[in-house]
Amino acid sequence: MKILVTGGAGYIGSHTCVELLGSGHDVVIVDNFRNASAESVRRVEKLSGKKVALYEGDIRDGKLLDRIFCEHEIDSVIHFAGLKAVGESCAKPIEYYDNNIYGTLVLLQAMKKAGCKKIVFSSSATVYGTPERLPLDETCAVGGTTNPYGSSKYFQEIMLSDVYKSDDEWTVVLLRYFNPVGAHESGQIGEDPKGIPNNLTPYIAKVAIGELKEVGVFGNDYPTHDGTGVRDYIHVVDLAKGHVAAIEKITKAGVYTYNLGTGVGYSVLDVIHAFEKACGHALAYAIKPRRAGDIAACYADASKAKRELGWEAKLGIDDMCASLWNWQKKNPNGYAK
Ligand code: NAD
Ligand code: UD1
Repeated sequence: MKILVTGGAGYIGSHTCVELLGSGHDVVIVDNFRNASAESVRRVEKLSGKKVALYEGDIRDGKLLDRIFCEHEIDSVIHFAGLKAVGESCAKPIEYYDNNIYGTLVLLQAMKKAGCKKIVFSSSATVYGTPERLPLDETCAVGGTTNPYGSSKYFQEIMLSDVYKSDDEWTVVLLRYFNPVGAHESGQIGEDPKGIPNNLTPYIAKVAIGELKEVGVFGNDYPTHDGTGVRDYIHVVDLAKGHVAAIEKITKAGVYTYNLGTGVGYSVLDVIHAFEKACGHALAYAIKPRRAGDIAACYADASKAKRELGWEAKLGIDDMCASLWNWQKKNPNGYAK
């Protein structure tokens, strides 16, 4: 199949492209490099030994999308392009809604025009807001999002479902990711956050390499096994494979929703200790106040994806930390030389 991957130069997109190419699919990427660089695409090509068609540009540029659909017979779209920083979204809601919501609208218009009616969308566990129950399954209530990033994911899910309701030839797959971490085992591609990371594992990696002093543990008074926040961390390569499964297994029109997680929750301290094993030395950390907006625990019931897609996460927390450490050591400045 020929697949248009929006945001394919980014963290999850680049790993997914490697898996798609490895499974014999052709890949066309559109990315404006707002949070990525062409270097990741060069490395994807090197790792897979295959070429991708790369378009540098914005998904809000309808003319560009029309040209891409004209120049390639696209079977399906995997839609990663979007802004994803929760804190930034609170400071810049207009920019987030413009990029994420309007970007998806322009993409859907171009798909409709081209008669391409299959889309796999990067959604997030954030759509569940404060979990109704744990583990979270796909029937749990959604909404109640507390920041523009989360709201944009929730709205996009609604928009995509409405498109199917209006035309039952569409296939819409909503993949709700839990906490993607780690890197490709080669250490050639990985997450390259700009500035000081907001998320836990890139922060730990920068402490491990000596770039940051200590990990701040945001709260140790949650009702969890050690008082620190619990999350369902999923290896980015497992997550990437989940996209290949969605593309290949779902052949009938409809709206499909899947949690992509491991079903296992680890606390902040569990992750710090797993990373200490991976890097071979102790890591400094300090208990800090809770971070505003955080929940105590969030983990998936991922059994629907196993049942229907034949997909399940295979890699554990030690693989996640080892691969992240490998990427961090080999690329202390990320993709910048
Ligand atoms: P990322 O920032 O590494 O990748 C997003 C890519 O999209 C980047 O390469 C960026 O340059 C590109 N992009 C952004 N806006 C664009 C636009 N208007 N036109 C063209 N390209 C554009 O992020 P990621 O972690 O790989 O996330 C991919 C998707 O998965 C996002 O939609 C994100 O919201 C979603 N998601 C991520 C996580 C996570 O923890 N990383 C969790 C849940 C959902
Ligand atoms: C965050 C976003 C979520 C987004 C996800 C992407 C918030 C509230 N949620 O999820 O919408 O989809 O990133 O991966 O921002 N922690 C520390 N110290 C740190 C950083 C984090 O203790 O320096 C803790 C947090 O309190 C949390 C856990 O580590 O308990 C994971 O945090 P993080 O990696 O930021 O992910 P989430 O908050 O789960």
